[in-house]
Amino acid sequence: MEAVFCRIRHNIYMSTKPHPLKIAFIGAGGIVSHAHAAAVNKHPEFYQVLGVCDLNLEAAQTIAERYSPDAQAFRSMEELYDAVGSELEGVIVGTPHFLHEPAGIFFLERGIPILMEKPVTCSLDELERLQALERPGVFVQAGQMQRFDAEALWMRDFVQDAAKFGSPTSFDLNIWQNIQGYIQGNQQHWILDGNKAGGGICISVGIHVLDLLRFVTGEDFLEVTATGRFDPPFSNQAESSCSVLFKMSGGVTGTLHASYTPSRVPYSQRMVLFGERGALYQDTVMKQYAGPMMAVSEDPMITKFADMYGGFEPIAESAKAAYPEANEGGFSLQLLHFREAILEGRKPTQNSLEINHNTIAVLDAIAASLQSGKTEAVAALSALTA
Ligand SMILES: NC(=O)c1ccc[n+]([C@@H]2O[C@H](COP(=O)([O-])OP(=O)(O)OC[C@H]3O[C@@H](n4cnc5c(N)ncnc54)[C@H](O)[C@@H]3O)[C@@H](O)[C@H]2O)c1
Repeated sequence: MEAVFCRIRHNIYMSTKPHPLKIAFIGAGGIVSHAHAAAVNKHPEFYQVLGVCDLNLEAAQTIAERYSPDAQAFRSMEELYDAVGSELEGVIVGTPHFLHEPAGIFFLERGIPILMEKPVTCSLDELERLQALERPGVFVQAGQMQRFDAEALWMRDFVQDAAKFGSPTSFDLNIWQNIQGYIQGNQQHWILDGNKAGGGICISVGIHVLDLLRFVTGEDFLEVTATGRFDPPFSNQAESSCSVLFKMSGGVTGTLHASYTPSRVPYSQRMVLFGERGALYQDTVMKQYAGPMMAVSEDPMITKFADMYGGFEPIAESAKAAYPEANEGGFSLQLLHFREAILEGRKPTQNSLEINHNTIAVLDAIAASLQSGKTEAVAALSALTA
């Protein structure tokens, strides 16, 4: 079972004297410029951006200028560290996946905690190498920001409520995106190359819904059987589409269908989860990444065909009311969580490498099963790193 999620206590740090945490961005591409920089800007009193690095110096400069005059732009993490490393308290890494492990090693060895974009690493071996470098106050927090969303918090409480949901029994997950729409003509994009992305659709975007299922159910993946396709423009064993059967702890079973190469599809993440007494049900909605979750509980005796449609209520509004802290948004809350752990000199209570271990382990097992054509066990957290 996954470690219990502690409620976010960032309010402590909102109400006390702000300590502007000295941070840097490693990578200045899409996710840093759109999401992480915005999360920093939500609470400018809590963060001081000392530097930004990117191979593309212009991209680094564009972000650094937002934090002028404090922030400087660099071409590499080495240059950045040489200039501002002695003051740095944390870094946010948003580079292509194959650079996560080297960045992790570089900053952990220098005593700097890391908020690492998903996937935290390309493989379990890499994750465990980072784990071995962690020490008190020096850690990696995985960037699975969906765990901080209001809807996810509500879903977790609903599913964990035995009277309302009962034990989870089975699920169906989907993640679909048209890759040409995403890469917009860049046929050399790193996400197409298994050596740079660590795999295909599952590690790049399927990871979100796999990790969310673990968060909501509190169960871990045990076993997978996968089949898929490896169509162009993907290379180096990056799967373009994938269908997976899963066994989880608690006897939960289910499926994932993920595809980067449908001719037409809205970019969408979808989860259907059934419990002994309740259900969570999500439909795709055009132009929305994830449609609203509908929940139903304590089914009446179904005696008519029409009853099957009754009782489903959208949860989005009630979720916000019940979790006021989650109005912050996932990216901001995960950054507040990261800051709090640094200020308290401890690991984060959410998205530590231990918590993220099974998410990376199931991706490893899917990749292995795609190659072997067999059912593969999901590696367990070893006693050394648990
Ligand atoms: N949480 C989410 O919802 C979400 C969404 C999109 C992307 N991501 C993740 O964010 C990360 C980055 O994705 P992106 O979409 O921003 O990619 P991107 O290609 O837009 O940005 C990556 C940046 O890294 C830079 N870079 C490459 N090599 C570098 C090096 N050696 N040193 C410094 N910078 C280097 C590139 O020049 C580029 O600007 C990935 O891990 C991705 O999976 C997360």
